[in-house]
Amino acid sequence: MTYARIAGTGSALPERVISNAELAARVDTSDEWIAERTGIRQRHIAADGQTTGDLAYAAAMAALQAAGVDAKEIDLIVLGTTTPDLVFPSTACLLQHRLGANGCAAFDVNAACSGFIYALTVANQFIRAGTAKTALVIGAETLSRFLDWSDRATCVLFGDGAGAVVLKAADEPGILSSHIHADGGYKELLWNPVGVSAGFKDEPNHGLRVLMQGREVFKVAVKTLDRVVEETLEANQLDRHQLDWLIPHQANLRIIEATAKRLDMPMDRVIVTVDKHANTSAASVPLALDYAVRSGKVQRGQLLLLEAFGGGFTWGSALLRY
Ligand code: ACO
Repeated sequence: MTYARIAGTGSALPERVISNAELAARVDTSDEWIAERTGIRQRHIAADGQTTGDLAYAAAMAALQAAGVDAKEIDLIVLGTTTPDLVFPSTACLLQHRLGANGCAAFDVNAACSGFIYALTVANQFIRAGTAKTALVIGAETLSRFLDWSDRATCVLFGDGAGAVVLKAADEPGILSSHIHADGGYKELLWNPVGVSAGFKDEPNHGLRVLMQGREVFKVAVKTLDRVVEETLEANQLDRHQLDWLIPHQANLRIIEATAKRLDMPMDRVIVTVDKHANTSAASVPLALDYAVRSGKVQRGQLLLLEAFGGGFTWGSALLRY
């Protein structure tokens, strides 16, 4: 049996940090409100001209170095993003050329905040099937580009960044299972209402903005994450107490705590970066994973549960032995 095993992780964050206090000087909000409702204290925001692809490149280089893999060995690049550099070529193709990995398959996946779990699932299938041996999987976003910075209900929640993993074919696990789902019926609870085909609007930033019914999203997210976590444990006939780490999507500390409670996991076995990064959508899980690895929390051989939920709605999980 061939498995996909994480050989290395990497991440990248823009230099510019915006604190809650700085946002409170721009919109009617406060550090207390944001921290209490979400756990967010600050976010990193891309500089003018700094793109999703730039962050993806830095994260990818760090992951390749950690894995001891040369870019020429990569035979698949899957990149989760909702904020690609261009309409086309895909950010994965731009990245491939920059890395010097020309010739391998490279494509983007748009599954909003679940983008990395979707990308990981796709790459895992390629490796399990024997179609790829070395895959680069990335989640990268510059959500700051489409935020409405005058809307306090949404602009306080998001940030920019990128995370990457190098997957290698191995005889030992590796990714044990992954589970992805979507329900397009929830489109209007969380969406960006303009696009190339539907058209743009004669509004600031061409009408690009996040429209969200926060309270409804919160409720569905908690219930849905509970379900996908149960599905993952059942598929692997695993008791929840066997998990070493929960590495959740970093949208809201209260959502993270609800999932941890469901798993009966103390918060010191849950990776939390939402305070520093805010919600970086597809980048959130690989950023948290890289932080967990580089800080020495996650050790080789440990059992990790990754999960995410986002616009679409989309959601998913992955159980893996690191
Ligand atoms: N500062 C101060 N007050 C605010 C702010 C703000 N930034 N934003 C909203 N408020 C006000 C509202 O106007 C409202 O005022 P009112 O009572 O006078 O009408 C009050 O605060 C309460 O607003 P709610 O939206 O009901 O607040 P809630 O407790 O639900 O918290 C939040 C809002 C943080 C958005 C929460 O619902 C949430 O986290 N939802 C999940 C959404 C999410 O994470 N989306 C990201 C993408 S999906 C994902 O990744 C899971």
